[in-house]
Amino acid sequence: MFPDVHLTHERSRMSKKRVLTGYRPTGRLTLGHWFGNLMNMRQMQDTYEAYYFVADWHALTSDWQDTSRIRQFTEEMVLDWIAAGIDPGKATIYRQSDVPEVAELTLYLSMVTPMSWLERVPSYKEQREQISEKDLGNVGFFLYPLMQAADIVIVRGEAVPVGEDQAPHLELTREIVRRFNATYGELLVEPASVIPESGARVPGTDGRKMSKSYGNAIYLSETDEETTQKVMGMITDPARRLKTDPGNPDICPLQQIHKLVARDSETVAEWDRCCRSAQCGCVAHKRQMAADLTAYLSEFRARRAELNAHPGYAWEVLADGAARVRPVVVDLMGEVREAMRLKAPVG
Ligand code: TRP
Repeated sequence: MFPDVHLTHERSRMSKKRVLTGYRPTGRLTLGHWFGNLMNMRQMQDTYEAYYFVADWHALTSDWQDTSRIRQFTEEMVLDWIAAGIDPGKATIYRQSDVPEVAELTLYLSMVTPMSWLERVPSYKEQREQISEKDLGNVGFFLYPLMQAADIVIVRGEAVPVGEDQAPHLELTREIVRRFNATYGELLVEPASVIPESGARVPGTDGRKMSKSYGNAIYLSETDEETTQKVMGMITDPARRLKTDPGNPDICPLQQIHKLVARDSETVAEWDRCCRSAQCGCVAHKRQMAADLTAYLSEFRARRAELNAHPGYAWEVLADGAARVRPVVVDLMGEVREAMRLKAPVG
């Protein structure tokens, strides 16, 4: 139950493809992450050789003015991952800033990357336009997708699970890899994107996409009471004003989450039926949903509490991950420097 961080790398995994994904440590993980990413990461740790890292430098690119909680968020993210079933004995869990060569490789990749390629990255343009509360005019933020390319390439990542928003970053990575290889020799691996099958979109308590920045998120690590309170305040079918109005569960965020967490499909079908026929009210449905949701998360929350009781555990996992990723990085960087004639060949 309590995962051993010192499990050795099994040899058998050497034949598996290598998957890589990173998360910026900007806060606790939500139910949206659970269904959107974590289930997929849990699956991939068995079918791939998995590298999961905390992208603390990426968090810095936008949050450089306030770094006060970056360590706390890093620690919480690692604990959330492990409580969600990411096994540090299977996946290599590490922190980006423990691999300083990522910065070196970012610099090398910057040589082969035209500025125009970075200027036209959609997420860059959008965020510069839409986010006004943070100063994103810094070079670091401009380099965000370039550093992401370095993250992937430095472990010879072959597969990267991507949602819609990250697809252009992966495309850019591939272009940079091709340009590097055309210049210095076929050396870097061109990563492929894998579209997660299980990427359910989870609505927040207000019906919009669940997101920390909308204030509509249910956090995996919050208490059952907090979750229940949020569920009781959820919006339902807005056209259903009275209990006697028939409702439409297809557009009800409560029902959408219920479908994901209910013990069985009959429960969901029953609430669907009695909502449409106005035989049951939203308050009763919320009570039932809160009970089912907290039951669904109870194993996660128990594990999370257990991990919490071991201060320093997340840092042990990260230290172990850093040691495991080191030989991979040293090897790749040796080849890169040699290909660029920066170091004389050894021996
Ligand atoms: N850009 C990703 C995000 O916003 C985080 C990230 C950084 C990442 N480096 C990566 C994802 C490399 C995949 C591969 O969540």
